[in-house]
Amino acid sequence: MSFNIKNNVHWVGKIDWELERFHGYEYSTHRGSSYNSYLIKEDKTALIDTVWGPYKKEFVENLAKETDLGKIDYVIANHAEPDHSGALPELMRHIPDTPIYCTKNGLKSFKGQYHQDWNFNVVKTGDTLSLGNKDLVFVEMPMLHWPDSMLCYLTGDSLLFSNDAFGHHFASELMYTDLVDQAELYAECIKYYANILTPFSPMVTKKIKEVLSLNLPLDMICPSHGMIWRDHPEQIIEQYLKWADNYQENQITIIYDTMWNGTRKVAESIAKGIREADKEVAVKLYHLEKRDKNDVITEIFKSKAVIVGSPTVNRGILTSVAAILEMIKGLKFKKKKGAAFGCYGWSGESTKIISDSLEASGFEMADDVLKVNWNPDDGSIEKCMAYGKEFAENLA
Ligand code: FEO
Repeated sequence: MSFNIKNNVHWVGKIDWELERFHGYEYSTHRGSSYNSYLIKEDKTALIDTVWGPYKKEFVENLAKETDLGKIDYVIANHAEPDHSGALPELMRHIPDTPIYCTKNGLKSFKGQYHQDWNFNVVKTGDTLSLGNKDLVFVEMPMLHWPDSMLCYLTGDSLLFSNDAFGHHFASELMYTDLVDQAELYAECIKYYANILTPFSPMVTKKIKEVLSLNLPLDMICPSHGMIWRDHPEQIIEQYLKWADNYQENQITIIYDTMWNGTRKVAESIAKGIREADKEVAVKLYHLEKRDKNDVITEIFKSKAVIVGSPTVNRGILTSVAAILEMIKGLKFKKKKGAAFGCYGWSGESTKIISDSLEASGFEMADDVLKVNWNPDDGSIEKCMAYGKEFAENLA
């Protein structure tokens, strides 16, 4: 499959309908994904990015139907992560001397991964590459989302090839954001931002402002995953600026794991108490073992407060709770409130472990944790509701 985007620019990537897990098993993709590669056939021919390794032969065979491989003058490697560079070794087998344009960090990454001495050409922000009547302009995008990331802009056609930025894991043959279900598109975009870009939000804001200050005309944004933004492409830029600015909705998320349903009952009682105090706030509960962790992270991203619960086991916490706390630590959420709860039979360390972890991750914690000895009785349930009520009142 390939298609024309505009004038001499063609999509030559791969839609991955089967993808369920990304970054190993770390990121779930409920709607597949695509690896977008773009072929520009001006006086000079340039290929922007490739696809993931398992599709390398299919990619190169399809590419050869679009152009004589020997006629590719330049390979632009915006990002070295294997979902975009995995087919490079197969492609370079056919065109070993073709120059590859990447950032300085890209060079380190390509060499580290593929151990090849290809014809690398390091570019930096502001460098241009002439394709004849049009140029490619390069902009380094460090930490959006890897140190090596960059984007490039095609003058004349006003196309921004943004690589991972503004992407989404979403497979569709429609290939344009204005043609797909908008709710599904939004869900995938916010999940992608929450799980991948959150820790780099300050850099997102800075880099977007830098690119906007160039006042470049913008016809489309062509990311390396998902659909192309052609209808008001600035909409996703504006959305990124909102998400990067410590985004919050009026939502409190309660996440927990439970062994014999005691901690579940505590969670549900806290939710009831919150509801008593605030009829408008969205309260969402997730049993971590039963829910997709990346979907839960998206809900945390949207929340103004997060309440985390685990029973005590082996003087610690349940592993699903430990895993999400580790993810929360890495994602560096800002300006969120937190609280901890859990049932215990004997020693009862879980709430301190959770509270310490959230505090170390930058959460502003409630003054007290909520510990319930054994399975909650009616008196404990009342206390849990009161805890939720007070927590919500203190948020107001
Ligand atoms: Fe950072 Fe789509 O790879």
